Amino acid sequence: MTTEATNSKFKQRVFSGIQPSGGLTLGNYLGAIRRFVDMQEGGIETIYCMVDLHAITVWQDPAALRHQTRELAAGYLAAGLDPKKSILFNQSQVPEHAQLGWVFNCIARLGWMNRMTQFKDKAGKNAEKASLGLYAYPSLMAADILLYHATHVPVGEDQKQHVELTRDIAAKFNHDYGVDFFPMSEPVIEGAATRVMSLRDGSKKMSKSDPSDASRINMTDDADTIAKKIRKAKTDPEALPSELDGLKDRPEARNLVNIYAALAGISPQAVLDQHGGQQFSAFKPALVDLAVDHLAPISTEMARLMQHSDEIDAILRDGAARARAIASPILQQTYDIIGMLR
Ligand code: AMP
Ligand code: TRP
Repeated sequence: MTTEATNSKFKQRVFSGIQPSGGLTLGNYLGAIRRFVDMQEGGIETIYCMVDLHAITVWQDPAALRHQTRELAAGYLAAGLDPKKSILFNQSQVPEHAQLGWVFNCIARLGWMNRMTQFKDKAGKNAEKASLGLYAYPSLMAADILLYHATHVPVGEDQKQHVELTRDIAAKFNHDYGVDFFPMSEPVIEGAATRVMSLRDGSKKMSKSDPSDASRINMTDDADTIAKKIRKAKTDPEALPSELDGLKDRPEARNLVNIYAALAGISPQAVLDQHGGQQFSAFKPALVDLAVDHLAPISTEMARLMQHSDEIDAILRDGAARARAIASPILQQTYDIIGMLR
């Protein structure tokens, strides 16, 4: 059966999540949050989650976790997520995630989990010391998605394998129980900024875990800090080319062009049409203006929201109630299919 045929009975629904495991970078904003916000305008139901149960697969200080969860919510809201158009909630406030996650632990096979590259990356050399939760992480992620029968999952390139595993779990469940109950969810990976790179090293992903703060723009950075980091960003001595081909072996230059394109909402080629032939001494100030115009109001609004955490908490409580209204009947039907007593 094709994906289309399998999915035709399911209403289109978008689901995605981000871990509240640290500060938010320009990579999170361009690669995830801003795309989530854009999708809420498409007439499809959109559901976005802060996955705190995923965050604790590695150690999180409790006070820091609470702070980071609120800060992530503030990031979504400041970037334009409208809680009237989308459902925004915190994973642990909807217990059905953990419940369906357990069912999927019994569907997923050890062999499938052993192929997950993120586990290998995160566990490192000492996998024996990694938590069992880190190993089971992708099956909880499948539960997040399938608890809402989500058809579309916007994610970065690094999450593609987990969405494919979600489809394997859905297919095995449907097959084992002889039902057509879970959809084949599609990853949505698109845009100029699916991989925003470090400002200090164009071969490394921009990441909150990079020891150098100069390597990233944080969503909480103020205008001066954003300007300073872009001015200091690593580049090469050449002028910008007029064609994309000319960026091939120039990862730092390509990254700044991609960032410009994503912020301006134009293609990288359109950036070169406007700026090809310019030296970085001319291009960087243009990028600073664009980045500050775009990002400074977001960091200001995040700071305001963080002063009103009761506002954030109320939005999340409301979001959890609306999420549960969808999730709870799907979990109940799952239990019925499996043969659990009511
Ligand atoms: P993480 O903070 O790594 O848990 O990622 C949260 C979301 O942001 C995921 O959808 C990632 O794919 C996306 N993301 C994180 N870093 C980047 C980056 N440097 N470029 C593009 N997307 C990113
Ligand atoms: N694993 C994702 C990440 O690290 C976060 C995540 C958890 C997620 N559950 C999800 C993303 C469901 C999309 C859909 O970025």
